[in-house]
Amino acid sequence: MTTASISDLRHHVGEAVIVQGWVTHFRSSGRIHFIIVRDGTGVVQCVFKHDEVQEPLTTETAVTVYGEVRADARSPIGVEIAVHQLVVTGQSPDYPITPKEHGTDFLMGHRHLWVRSPRQAAILRIRAAIIRKARGFLDDHGFTVADPPIITPAAAEGSTTLFGIDYFGEPAFLSQSGQLYMEALAMALGKVYSFGPTFRAEKSKTRRHLTEFWMLEPEMAFVEFEENLSWQERLMEAIVSGVLQDCADELAVIGRDVVPLARVKTPFPRITYDEALERLATLGMPVAWGEDLGAPHETALAEQFDRPVFVTHYPTALKAFYMQPDPKRPEVVLAADLLAPEGYGEIVGGSQRIHDLELLQQRLHQHQLPDSVYSWYLDLRRYGSVPHSGFGMGLERVVAWITGLEHVRETTPFARTLNRVWP
Ligand code: 4AD
Ligand code: MG
Repeated sequence: MTTASISDLRHHVGEAVIVQGWVTHFRSSGRIHFIIVRDGTGVVQCVFKHDEVQEPLTTETAVTVYGEVRADARSPIGVEIAVHQLVVTGQSPDYPITPKEHGTDFLMGHRHLWVRSPRQAAILRIRAAIIRKARGFLDDHGFTVADPPIITPAAAEGSTTLFGIDYFGEPAFLSQSGQLYMEALAMALGKVYSFGPTFRAEKSKTRRHLTEFWMLEPEMAFVEFEENLSWQERLMEAIVSGVLQDCADELAVIGRDVVPLARVKTPFPRITYDEALERLATLGMPVAWGEDLGAPHETALAEQFDRPVFVTHYPTALKAFYMQPDPKRPEVVLAADLLAPEGYGEIVGGSQRIHDLELLQQRLHQHQLPDSVYSWYLDLRRYGSVPHSGFGMGLERVVAWITGLEHVRETTPFARTLNRVWP
């Protein structure tokens, strides 16, 4: 007998199979027992004709089912199982998550069990597909994956949001971004990317902020501002179309309206920060030049477009020390944030990097960052410096947008936020 996954059962009609999974529902009518089993790939009804079932089949009881696959027109997967034998592998008395409504706090506190629910499992499958599509696109376009360290001696994105650690008596920090290292690797390998966890000790309690999140960070030698945007939009298009193709079932489980996703095609619109301020003023949301855009501003801007929009040329003073000022207008940088539609805000941040040694030193001083800590980074400008660019895509924000979730906490298996490190 073969062990089959539930998603594969329709290819086994008429065969005897073994299905291993967990009970989601159980009911009996006389001698006929209906057991709904899920295995992570799908859900199937198992029909057991027997005087009585020996052990209680409560929610999440683990079972091994031996039976025959039968075609069944009423089944959403087209088949059911006529059970010959049922073995309980693990009992599950008093499973804490019940069909009644639970509050978010309760569910997050039981995240280790909550991930078993069909909706949560569908979200995690879509997350996996996004990762697969993103890596596939970069791998197919000449990028080499190369991993930066997580334990680092200095800030990559501003010193106010660093998690410090005690590194054998010396201070060290959890990485906020692999970018600085990716710049070194781009000079070695040309086009590179990293994909890994990053950390921000941010005291932000919003639906977009995690303290630990995964970032995809491509970095490219000899690539300037415009080409950087082109890579970003092509990557996003590949991700969204790939998910639409691979995850129709999962998107249906979570009830995502796919019409807005189908519109995500290149080219994406580009507006400058200055144009963004004009649009916001017209909308009755004035922002003074030099002020940052908040979440409500990003939402209002994104609502004016049917696909993600780049906001470019932010004031230099608002952005990180490494961003290349526009040579024609040094008070703005050659940087862009990509804002997702439907109120999801910034999903990608990127820029051309300063490649001139003196200018970079000047910017470090303006940010009151010590040369000594960045000496290796300055070396990249001493030895064969070239224009280069890159960007960082926040995975959880992309998952939230593509799945249409209210909050990033459900986009990652075990979210870390300002007030939660459990379980
Ligand atoms: O805009 P950020 O801070 O850019 C960087 O870190 C650059 N060094 C990346 C690069 O150019 N290589 O972060 C990049 C993206 C944001 O656009 C957002 O999607 C996500 O990372 N992000 C967060 N996601 C969840 N929680 C947080 N606290 C996040 N902070 C940033
Ligand atoms: Mg940013």
